[in-house]
Amino acid sequence: MEPDRRRGDLPAAPAGHGPLTRNRSTPNGVPTELNAEYYAQRASHALIITEGTQPSADGQGYLLTPGIYSEEHIAGWRKVTDAVHKVDGRIVIQLMHAGRMSHPDNTPHHRQPVAPSAVQPAGAMFTASGLQEMPVPRELSTEEVATTVDDYRRAAAAAIAAGADGVEIHSANGYLPHQFLATNTNQRTDQYGGSIDNRIRFAVEVATAVTDEIGAGRTGIRISPGNPFNDIAESDTHELYPALVRALAPLDLAYLHIVHGGDDEPLRTLRKLWPTRLVLNRAGTDIPTRAKDVEDGLADIVTVGTMALANPDLVERVRTGAPLNTPDPETFYGGGEAGYTDYPTLTA
Ligand SMILES: Cc1cc2nc3c(=O)[nH]c(=O)nc-3n(C[C@H](O)[C@H](O)[C@H](O)COP(=O)(O)O)c2cc1C
Repeated sequence: MEPDRRRGDLPAAPAGHGPLTRNRSTPNGVPTELNAEYYAQRASHALIITEGTQPSADGQGYLLTPGIYSEEHIAGWRKVTDAVHKVDGRIVIQLMHAGRMSHPDNTPHHRQPVAPSAVQPAGAMFTASGLQEMPVPRELSTEEVATTVDDYRRAAAAAIAAGADGVEIHSANGYLPHQFLATNTNQRTDQYGGSIDNRIRFAVEVATAVTDEIGAGRTGIRISPGNPFNDIAESDTHELYPALVRALAPLDLAYLHIVHGGDDEPLRTLRKLWPTRLVLNRAGTDIPTRAKDVEDGLADIVTVGTMALANPDLVERVRTGAPLNTPDPETFYGGGEAGYTDYPTLTA
């Protein structure tokens, strides 16, 4: 029988936990028992996509985010994946290289952030000594781009060694792969800059390397077409993303995850071009709106961010029509149990 290519190796159920940075790892980027408890509480989601996790020291942007490039990281993540699997959940680790969205005070080596080009991001970043301007990043040499691709490859292997069911490559929201895609952040003159074919090369090389390492059925990728978050300005969104999706399609990844707002027409175009499962994050909308995307066939799975953060039993609440807890933005980024593992369930 022909395998159903939309199914891959990951489960096909409608509501996933979207990736959410919570800044509650150790200073060395090691996940803790508290992190394991948080994710295990949310194991009834079709799939858990973890918080952005740096594949290298260069890849760290924010304080107290987890890494997946050392033995300690692997041991920490092992606690998380074991806890989730014990209650029948599925978990993929999101590989997030922050690129220029970083500050030397936030990384273990305290070096200047790296990026496709030396273009300083607007805005300030939270550091241990308060809000600080992000410095002008250092442009990666062509050789260093290859090294960075290799960092993703090793991180993917480490994620599997830590017991994860797969990885998601974060190519959205203004972080490193998105900085290669967008015209304002990529001013390179080598094979990674200029034309669309050149700007998509980094994301495609990362996806290819990760797929080679751990298998396509365990690899997903997240994109956010047209999203200006983190000082991104794309001059050719409507040509760029179809080209990227066409180039990724032959890899037969487990899924494409799209952060979406605004006009649905470009989304339908990407849906048509994509051969496997489409995971949709229709940012900021209510549950019925998201459920309709699955009913209408626009998405195979929808992910939920802040509502999943605030409702460990979101799936049960939606199934029974129970009211939802309200997320508290004060406790999103950093802290302990409060606003993390203490959101009540229906039965708590
Ligand atoms: C606290 C917080 C942390 C986030 N961290 C990440 C992240 O690490 N990786 C990522 O791809 N998106 C991240 N996002 C974006 C969310 O995954 C999601 O796209 C956004 O919250 C909008 O969708 P929602 O309405 O489902 O929450 C974060 C959002 C919030 C509120």
